[in-house]
Amino acid sequence: MSVSVLVGSQWGDEGKGKIVDILSENYDIVTRYQGGANAGHTVEIGDKKYILHLIPSGILRENVICVIGNGVVIDPTALLDEIALLEKNNIKVDGRLFISHNAHLIMPYHKLLDSISESGENKIGTTGRGIGPCYIDKYARKGIKIVDLLNRKVLEEKIRENIKEKNILLKKIYDHEELDVEEIIRQYLEFDKTIDKYIKDVPFYLNNAIDEGKSILLEGAQGALLDVDHGTYPYVTSSSPTSGGACTGTGIPPTRIDSVIGIVKAYTTRVGLGPFPTELTDEEGEKLRKVGAEYGATTGRPRRCGWFDAFLVRYSAMINGINTCAVTKLDVLGSFDKIKVCIGYEKNGKKIKSFPTDVERLSTVTPVYETLPGWNKDISNCLSYSELPTETKDYLSFISKQAGITFNIISVGPKRKQTFYAD
Ligand code: GDP
Ligand code: IMO
Ligand code: MG
Repeated sequence: MSVSVLVGSQWGDEGKGKIVDILSENYDIVTRYQGGANAGHTVEIGDKKYILHLIPSGILRENVICVIGNGVVIDPTALLDEIALLEKNNIKVDGRLFISHNAHLIMPYHKLLDSISESGENKIGTTGRGIGPCYIDKYARKGIKIVDLLNRKVLEEKIRENIKEKNILLKKIYDHEELDVEEIIRQYLEFDKTIDKYIKDVPFYLNNAIDEGKSILLEGAQGALLDVDHGTYPYVTSSSPTSGGACTGTGIPPTRIDSVIGIVKAYTTRVGLGPFPTELTDEEGEKLRKVGAEYGATTGRPRRCGWFDAFLVRYSAMINGINTCAVTKLDVLGSFDKIKVCIGYEKNGKKIKSFPTDVERLSTVTPVYETLPGWNKDISNCLSYSELPTETKDYLSFISKQAGITFNIISVGPKRKQTFYAD
């Protein structure tokens, strides 16, 4: 039995949802530890496509218990919509979903402040889900938590206090109309009726589960390069998607984590702003976007596409401590005659030793490429590693060596059956 953390190892959208769904067959509990409804994790089962934003992707396996940890920021409206959608599709959520009493609530003013700051000059290209402003309040110790829903008096007081301050900010700084405090209080006082039954002491529950020999998969959202500490700051999210975040975001100590599973896409994508050294802004980038259907699962925005960056993944493997790795979307590269892989960066003709997260520096590096032959074949029907063309196997072993990771899961399409283990 084990406790594993699953992390996105690039800029998000690596196919975490699909791989969590595959792996969760062998886990008792799947837990989200950070982020919020900015995530969009896709799971395709038969002709049905589910996009999960807050609820762990293990929810589609009926024997799996799903938990939302304290590190997640929860928009109650998004949560209830997601529960309703799953139940409409006959997926039982009641009794299978638990939420930490210490998770913070996204309030309407967080979404409003997110959109106001994105309409200004210093854009990040956020998902507009109120993530940054909610974490700001959390760390300023002004946040409102899930547990506050259980005490109507406290909840009302906290909302009043917060809105008093936000209204000054809205009026004086942003010249925006004030918020209707009574309406927000009325709306949030309603949530306890529907959310109460899911609230749990999550650290106690998860640590007891480990004591009982249960296995837990900790599902990261976003990706290492979007980590507020280790990513391409300020073009990051406001939480800790790297494996370290799994401890603070759940209450499971580092000594109880057995392994870290990395997820990488066979090429690179990014949504929103920020440097992206291997980005392709020509027809090859357009082709990757088209063949890979690279459009945001949460916002529908076209994703920026580029070649696999082994230098970046090597960095990601280092800060996450990746033990094993899944590679996804290998099928998408099936129509390229030649495939490039970035094996390092140069600046002013000099090789750079370690991955520069400083955006000024990262935007001025020159990627060094190695060109590999493509396989020019549809591999989406391959059922095993041995069925892959030689060029595909060579590509995998090259990127694995350059990035310093070992692939044990290979994904050649969005469906469950388009997945196999490496030899
Ligand atoms: P996540 O945020 O990491 O869970 O990834 P997303 O769900 O945002 O984006 C991944 C997209 O790729 C989804 O549409 C998946 O259905 C799809 N996908 C996952 N694995 C594969 C694969 O191996 N091949 C192809 N063609 N699509 C895949
Ligand atoms: P999943 O879990 C890809 C990006 C946004 C923006 C930056 C900050 O599906 O991989 P935020 O709304 O978090 O303040 O936006 O982070 N971003 C993601 N990019 N996948 C995601 O999630 C993302 N969640 C946030 O595009 O650049
Ligand atoms: Mg996604």
